[in-house]
Amino acid sequence: MWVELVILIFTLISLGFLYFHLAQRRHAAFWSSKNIPFVQKGTTWSELLTWKKTMFDQNYYAELKKIGAKFGGVYEQGSHALFVNDPDLLRAVFVKDFDHFEDRRDVKTTDPMMSKMLVALHGQEWKAMRSFLSPTFTSGKLRRMFAQFNSSGKRLETHVGNIPVNPETGCHVVTIPELARRFTVDVIGATVFGIETGALSEPDPIFYRLATRAVKPSKFLIMKFLVFIFAPKIATLLKIKAFDAEVINYFKGILSTALKQREASKEKRDDFLQLMVEARHEGKGEKSENGDKTAMSMSDDSIMAQCFLFFFAGFDTVANLVSLSCYVLAVNPELQEKVRENVEAAVESTGGEVTYDSASKMDYLDMFIAETQRMYQSQPRLERKCTKAWKVPGSDFVVPSGMIVMTDPEAFHFDPAYYPNPEQFDVERFSPENKAKRNPYVYLPFGLGPRNCIGMRFGLIEAKVAIAHLVKTFEILPTPKTPIPIKMDRVFSVSKAPADLEICLKFRSKQE
Ligand code: HEM
Repeated sequence: MWVELVILIFTLISLGFLYFHLAQRRHAAFWSSKNIPFVQKGTTWSELLTWKKTMFDQNYYAELKKIGAKFGGVYEQGSHALFVNDPDLLRAVFVKDFDHFEDRRDVKTTDPMMSKMLVALHGQEWKAMRSFLSPTFTSGKLRRMFAQFNSSGKRLETHVGNIPVNPETGCHVVTIPELARRFTVDVIGATVFGIETGALSEPDPIFYRLATRAVKPSKFLIMKFLVFIFAPKIATLLKIKAFDAEVINYFKGILSTALKQREASKEKRDDFLQLMVEARHEGKGEKSENGDKTAMSMSDDSIMAQCFLFFFAGFDTVANLVSLSCYVLAVNPELQEKVRENVEAAVESTGGEVTYDSASKMDYLDMFIAETQRMYQSQPRLERKCTKAWKVPGSDFVVPSGMIVMTDPEAFHFDPAYYPNPEQFDVERFSPENKAKRNPYVYLPFGLGPRNCIGMRFGLIEAKVAIAHLVKTFEILPTPKTPIPIKMDRVFSVSKAPADLEICLKFRSKQE
């Protein structure tokens, strides 16, 4: 019995090695036959499954740049893909010839609600949904929602004040990723679901607990996502769900009750749910195909799916940005003072209140956030799937339909050709003059083109409100446990502030 088992394992491992060897040869032969430079080795399944590497550890950018190539072939988990490391080519793929690249990689889901999310839609369906949703993110709509952002900002201050103070240092010591997540859950709860979540007023409310559970990194979660991305058929066969049932059912329940209440009472509120219900009643969300208008069904399920997506796409990303911003401020007191001066000058005309208009005047804070996002790019990849064969400009190579075209935002952000001394934190890189001198396609925190991050402005305003409230009221300081320099957590290759990142928030008035 044991002998048979050992033989079986040995045979399987040998077959695995043989498969990878042949796959690498096939990869090399494919790109060589097209006369296209290529990166020989991608991350293998065995490296992924033994946690030796993450999917995005391969520095394709540097390898291709070294040989002077603007693009090249890569091979990942069984497929040929094209990597782009030239900003003009990026513009061609992501913006100019977007009609060839409307989709992202297929990520199959067995959950009917999740398959209706904007992020999972393709082609015409995506276009129709994106144009239905885009008006909910205009500056007018964000202005309408702003009061909710500011209320959360005030609750954030109170919450910190309620954290026991160290009598010797005057510090309210906080784990900043947790604090920032409480803030973003509070904002998104109010602006997406239209409810008070208690994230900043109760120790462990269920809304906050389940939201954090859904994004809590674990090897199991990573495995699930790998299967979704690279083996969608297996995910369908095994009925693997992205989120656990308790999380989905809880949020679905809240949304479905809220939706029924809105429809029944015609109550008007300033949140996404309301905006989508209004848009549905106004008959928006119609798609125009070949000139014919086809009514786009905006079912309850569809509305709930988008709310659910905004929640999960929005709360951890913004919390991470707020955490890293606070970290940078804590370890750079002079920079912190400049940000504070900018915030205080902006709120002077509004009696110290952070309003939509005063926030728009915080230009130095904008520059600071932009540099924070350059230094700490969270998303490891931008990808599009070619949907119509496309000839690479200046080359004979035709990208076949179905091929993934990708790039690495962080590699652009750290290329000294675009950002001299890239390791140095320098807010002035984002002054209007310096920005104007740089190719805009080398700054990619929110992606690029018509399928970029729909929540960009929402996320930036939200982060600004949190930082403005904190610097206005507190001095932000490192504690003996604050790491200098910081080592980012790589969760499924998404870069995040370490979960235990600690800083001190000290009331300014008490210090003076
Ligand atoms: C600092 C905060 C955020 C960052 C860094 C971020 C980053 C990104 C990136 C890199 C993409 C992919 C873009 C591309 O492929 O070109 C994306 C897509 C997306 N983001 Fe964000 N995001 C943030 C906040 C938000 C917020 C607050 C929301 C919603 C309220 C949101 C909703 C979405 C959605 C729905 C998509 C998919 C868009 C589509 O497929 O059409 N994000 N985000």
